[in-house]
Amino acid sequence: MQNKGDLIVILGTGGTIAGTAADPGDNVGYKAAQLSVEQLIASLPGLAGRRLETEQVAQIDSKDMDFATWQQLAEKLAQHLARPEVSGIVITHGTDTLEETAYFLQRLLNPVKPVVITAAMRPATSLQSDGPQNLLDAVAVAAQAHVAGVLVAFAGAIHSAEQVRKVHSYRLDAFASAEGSRLGVVEEGIVRWLARRPSAPAALGLARISRPAAQWPRVQIVMNHVGADGAVVEALLAQGVDGLVVAGTGNGSVASPLEAALRQAHEQGVAVLRSTRCDAGPVSAAADALPSAGSLSPVKARIELLLTLLAD
Ligand code: SIN
Repeated sequence: MQNKGDLIVILGTGGTIAGTAADPGDNVGYKAAQLSVEQLIASLPGLAGRRLETEQVAQIDSKDMDFATWQQLAEKLAQHLARPEVSGIVITHGTDTLEETAYFLQRLLNPVKPVVITAAMRPATSLQSDGPQNLLDAVAVAAQAHVAGVLVAFAGAIHSAEQVRKVHSYRLDAFASAEGSRLGVVEEGIVRWLARRPSAPAALGLARISRPAAQWPRVQIVMNHVGADGAVVEALLAQGVDGLVVAGTGNGSVASPLEAALRQAHEQGVAVLRSTRCDAGPVSAAADALPSAGSLSPVKARIELLLTLLAD
């Protein structure tokens, strides 16, 4: 569906951007997900003159994001994207799992209109509140008629869903694109593109996630580290697991006892992907090694595996 209108829909899901604290100087002792998305935009005079619509899809701290909320968000997003009058969509989210939601929505819908996720590192009541500017920037990006795909607008930078990662636990500039591959910047409401996004794989489609969230495959992440053994994998196998992502060291290397346990899991029918705990760079595929997750981070490799297993 091509853009025919100028309506931007803002979907709220919670996060620090909607958080409040009793003390404006308190940047850590706040409660996330307190203000509605309607309240967030009401405080932004810079949005006057834009045709906007809001919908509260969830109101959570994103550490608690779950499959049922993802399902609901993806369905809402698809409904709004299909409306000819909608030119772009903004999603407000918590920073903690934002990159996972961004990747999930990108792989599922590969939207032909801009879907821009934004968030904040400081609550709305903070002296340093960054949410209002991030939201203004996200709307500016969502209004770009020629743009497609799921993007993240944060601290003046634009990242793709594939490359974005939260890289700092406190700083306002908390996100980066792997290997410096940010797509653009927003300066005083003007969007300046710096790089072309590589073409994305086709959308997997909403039908992929039609089964009830409680029945989605169980995919867990295990990490390689000094002294890693097979105990965690064995415990997961005993509990029942459908897929495993190993966050390997370096080029996806895995300590011998952990690798043996993963190979055993693989032989028992558990899907395994080998990723790296490095901040960037691919894991090379090798004939005799466990399957590579390419350059996906462990959390994004988990989503890829989840979506693959949902096809079965
Ligand atoms: C959250 O992820 O919901 C809380 C933290 C944040 O948004 O920065």
